[in-house]
This record gives sequence, structure tokens and C-alpha cells, in this order.
Amino acid sequence: MKILRIDANLNTADKSYSMGAADEVIKQLQAKYPDATVETVNVFAANVPSLAHDLMPAWGKGEQNEATAKQAELLTQFKSADLFVVAAPMWNLSFPAELHKYFDNVFIAKETFGYTETGELVGMMKGKKAILVNAMGGIHTGTKNDLVVPHITQVLSFLGIDVVDSVVIQGTAIEQLPVADAVAANNDQIKKAVAAV
Ligand SMILES: Cc1cc2nc3c(=O)[nH]c(=O)nc-3n(C[C@H](O)[C@H](O)[C@H](O)COP(=O)(O)O)c2cc1C
Repeated sequence: MKILRIDANLNTADKSYSMGAADEVIKQLQAKYPDATVETVNVFAANVPSLAHDLMPAWGKGEQNEATAKQAELLTQFKSADLFVVAAPMWNLSFPAELHKYFDNVFIAKETFGYTETGELVGMMKGKKAILVNAMGGIHTGTKNDLVVPHITQVLSFLGIDVVDSVVIQGTAIEQLPVADAVAANNDQIKKAVAAV
């Protein structure tokens, strides 16, 4: 089994709740599946091509260049994974734009999705699974502000990927809340998520 960890954070685990939780998810997955290989792509560090500035102009001219080569590399890596761990903070009610840019690079017709002759959507990543990890400063799950996990779930589901569970750490910016409670709840969520794959 190949696990692809997709990180949308500039911080490491010591400074980020979602990175800390993602580390623990990976640790527990490795304990459960000792033969699994793990690759990580950090969307801030991977020099992800921009759809508007790099890819569409190249595609328009039928050009192969550094950006199209990078896009092909990201797509090959994405398609080769069996299980995804996607970790992101909430930023301004969404996830970082760099993660959206990454999705732009792997949302490719006839590669990861397509349509039948009668126009029905076919997610070409069927049989693959994902666990999402999200940290947010406020407490938003189940409200109209809860736009990270539902959005990423929909993006991956469109491609046929089964999002089996999510680990959500809430209230990290609310000083009067004991962070230890969030982290303890988070540990339970991690065990549950790992049990689901
Ligand atoms: C630029 C920026 C925007 C943010 N926007 C929101 C927001 O819209 N809602 C929210 O609840 N928290 C928001 N936060 C707080 C973060 O979601 C919170 O600090 C979270 O713990 C970050 O994840 P991390 O700990 O994994 O880095 C924002 C933080 C930053 C830096």
C-alpha cells in the first residue's frame, strides 16, 4: 500500500495542530500497515504550477515545459497512492490557496475523472481512501463556517476517493479553552480514523 501525505502547512508539528495530528495518523497507519510506503508532498514546498499562469498558457500552445513536467509528476504521484492523508489548517474559512493549486494539478479529465457516453461522472480514483486532518481557531464543525473538511471531502469524492473519516481540532485560537482537551479528543479521533481504513 502507498500512502500519500498531502500537507498544506508551513509549520512543523511542534507549531501546528494539524501537522501534529497528521504525524500521529501516519505513525498509527504505519503500525497498522508495516509494509506501507509513505510519500509526502508539501504544497507550499513542491513548487506547484499555477493553473492560470503556468499550465493554461502552455496547454493553449500545446507546449511542454517545466510547469507541465511538474504537473505530470504531481499527477503520477497522486494516481499511484492508495491512501491519502490530507492535512490543512482553516484559513479565512477555507484551506490555503496552495492546496487548491495542488488540486488544480491533479483534477485532470481522463486521468482522475471522466464522463460516460451518457454524461455520468466517473471518478477514476475509485478504490482509494482518504483521512482528512483539519485544525481551526474557532469552533465551526456543523455550522455554515465549516468549509474545509466538507470542501476537501467533496473534491476527493468527485474523483472517486472514499473519505473514510476526518480528524478535526477545533478552538485552537480560543485562549480560554484548554488545548489539552482538544488534543485528547483528537487522539480518540485519530484512533477511530485509522481503524476505518
Ligand atoms: C491567515 C489565517 C487565517 C485564519 N482564518 C481562520 C478562520 O477563518 N477561522 C478559524 O476558525 N480560524 C482561523 N485561523 C486560525 C487557524 O485555523 C488556527 O490557528 C489553526 O490551529 C491553524 O492550524 P495549525 O495549528 O495546524 O497550523 C486562521 C489563522 C491564520 C494564520
